[in-house]
Amino acid sequence: LTVDASPGKERKIPDTLFGIFFEEINHAGTGGLWAELVSNRGFEAGRGGESIEPWSVIGDGRNVDVATDRSSPFVRNKVALKMSVLCSGDHGSNNSCPNSGVGIYNPGFWGMNIEDKNRYNVILYMKSSRNLNVTASLTSADGSTVLSSTTITSGGSKVESEWAEFKFTLVSNGTDHNSRFQLTTTDNGIVWFDQISVMPDDTYNGHGFRKDLYSMLADLKPRFIRFPGGCFVEGDWLKNAFRWKETVGPWEERPGHFGDVWNYWTDDGLGYYEFLQLAEDLGAAPVWVINNGISHHDEISPLNLSTYVQDFLDSIEFARGNSSSKWGSVRAAMGHPETFNLEYVAIGNEDCEKEYYQANYVIFYKALKAAYPDIRLVSNCDASSHPIHHKADLYDYHIYTNAKTMFLRANHFDNAPRSGPKGFVSEYAVTEPHKDVGNGTFLAALGEAGFLIGLERNSDLIEMACYAPLFVNTNDRRWSPDAIVYNSWQQYGTPSYWVQHFFIHSSGATYHPVKLESIDSNFIAVASAITWKQSEDGRSFLKIKVANFGDKDLNLDINVVGLSNHGVRSSGSMQTTFKGELTAENSFDDPKKVIPVASRIENAGKKMYIKVSSRSLTSFDLPL
Ligand code: AHR
Repeated sequence: LTVDASPGKERKIPDTLFGIFFEEINHAGTGGLWAELVSNRGFEAGRGGESIEPWSVIGDGRNVDVATDRSSPFVRNKVALKMSVLCSGDHGSNNSCPNSGVGIYNPGFWGMNIEDKNRYNVILYMKSSRNLNVTASLTSADGSTVLSSTTITSGGSKVESEWAEFKFTLVSNGTDHNSRFQLTTTDNGIVWFDQISVMPDDTYNGHGFRKDLYSMLADLKPRFIRFPGGCFVEGDWLKNAFRWKETVGPWEERPGHFGDVWNYWTDDGLGYYEFLQLAEDLGAAPVWVINNGISHHDEISPLNLSTYVQDFLDSIEFARGNSSSKWGSVRAAMGHPETFNLEYVAIGNEDCEKEYYQANYVIFYKALKAAYPDIRLVSNCDASSHPIHHKADLYDYHIYTNAKTMFLRANHFDNAPRSGPKGFVSEYAVTEPHKDVGNGTFLAALGEAGFLIGLERNSDLIEMACYAPLFVNTNDRRWSPDAIVYNSWQQYGTPSYWVQHFFIHSSGATYHPVKLESIDSNFIAVASAITWKQSEDGRSFLKIKVANFGDKDLNLDINVVGLSNHGVRSSGSMQTTFKGELTAENSFDDPKKVIPVASRIENAGKKMYIKVSSRSLTSFDLPL
C-alpha cells in the first residue's frame, strides 16, 4: 500500500463531504429527536372523527363521556376534546366519582420517559362549563403510581368560560421509562381540552431536541443535514406531503399532518424552523428538500405550478430574509431574528422519471437563481451514468443494495463526468438480503465502509454523502436497517453508525493518492489516505484507511512517500480496527458489541509492515 503524500499530488476534500439525512420515518422526529412527550397533542390525528388515539379515557360511560368537537380557539386545527363529567365529587350522591377521578391519559410514544427530579413543562388549553378542578399528573403506565401532579382550576363565574392557557412545571419524584400523562377531575360539568404539551425542561440548548439523540448526531460531526425526507416530502398523495408553512409559527397553531408514506401522524412540532435550528446547532449546512408538486401518485403540471414556486421562494425568505421581510418576520417572531445560513436546496426526491419532473425543475431553477443566485440546487436526475439535460449544481445519487455490491461501488464514480454538476450521494445503505443485514449488521457496515472510501477517492466530484435512514424508534420500524436505534430512554448506534463515525475527519481534509496492490488478484480491498488537523491543538495526522472485504488477512507493506517534513512520528500512532461477526448487531442490552477499537502501533513510520484482518475496516492514525 503506497501513499503518495508528495506536494502537488494532494487535493482538498470538500468541507461538506459527510453529513446526515433526517427523514420523518420510523418516528424519527415525532417520538424521537423531538422531545415532546404527548402524542396527538391537539386531538387532530383522528381528523375530526371519533378516534382520539393514543389518548384513552379514565372512567366508564356512567361517569364520563368523551368526544371531539370543532370548538378549538386555533383556526388551523379546530378539533378539541370535550369531556362531560357525569359523576359528581359529592360523596353523598348516588353517582359519585371515583376518588382518583375520571379523565383522559396519553401514553406518549409507547411510554413517556420520566426521570427522577427532572422538570417537565406542561402547557395546555382548557375551558369549562363551570368552575372545575383538574389534576394533571405524570403516572406509571397503569396510573397507580403518581410521579408528580398539580391541580389547576378552569372556568370562572361565567356560564361557560373562555379558552385559557395553563402553564406549569411538574417535577418528578421517581423514574419510570413507561409513564403517562393524565388529566382527571372529580367535579361534575363539561370541560374542553386542546393543545396539550409536556416537554422535558432539559432539551439540547432548550431547542426541543432530545439530548441523548442529539449528542449521537453531534458526535458524527455532520457537515450538512438533508431534511425533512425522502418520501416524507413527496407523500403518497400531494394532500399529505410536507407543507412547510403549516409547520412554522406557534406550535399550538400548527395543524399537523398524516404522513401517508410511513403511515403515521405528526403534530409537526419539529417543523421547518426547528430543522434549520437543528442544522445551526450542529454546525451543519441545511439541505432543504422541497416538495416540487410531485407525490408518489399525483403531479402538478408546469402550467399550475405557481403556488408551489411561490411557496418555495417564501421558504427561502423565511430562512434568509431580514426580519422585516414577510417571512423573515415570522422566523424572527419565533426567536431567530438572525438569518439561517441556507445554501442548498433539493428539488424533490427520487422524481427524475416522473412525467413533469424536468419541466417543473426548470421553473423552480429559474425562479430560485433569479432571486438567490448563490443557492446550490440539487436535481433528482443522476448524472453519474447519463448526461442530464438541465442545469444543476448537484445531482442526487441513491443506492440501496447488498454488502458486496455496495463495497464494489467504491469505483462507481471513478469514470463519471467531471465537467457537469457535482455528485450528492443523498441516500446510501446496505439493505439486502434480510438474512445478512437484519436490523443493522457488521457485514452491512463493511459494505458501506468500502463505498465511503471510494467516495473519498472521488471527492473531486462528490461534494456530499449521507446514509439513510438515520433514526428508528424500535416501536415503529418502518424501514431497516437504520443508523441510530432508540426507545423512550435508551439508544445505540448500529455498525453503520460507527462506520460513519469512522470517517468524521474526512470532510475538509486533504486527500492523498493511494495505490493498493496484491499478488493475489482476487483480493477485495480498498484504501484511502488523508491528512487532517486537530482543531484543539493544531496537531496534524496522516490517516490511512483500509477496508478488507475478503476472507483472507492482508499483510500490508505500507509505504508513505513524498512527505515534505520529518515524516511520521511513531509516538502517539494508533490503529483502529472495526471487525465483528458478519451478522453481529448492537442492541439495547449490548450497545457496543460491534464498535471500532483503538490500540497503539509500535514502530510506526513511513514504512510499516502491518496485518489487516479479513473482513475488517482498519485505520492507521499517524501524527506528523
Ligand atoms: O430512506 C428511506 C426511503 O428510501 C426514502 O424516503 C426514499 O427517498 C428512498 O426511497
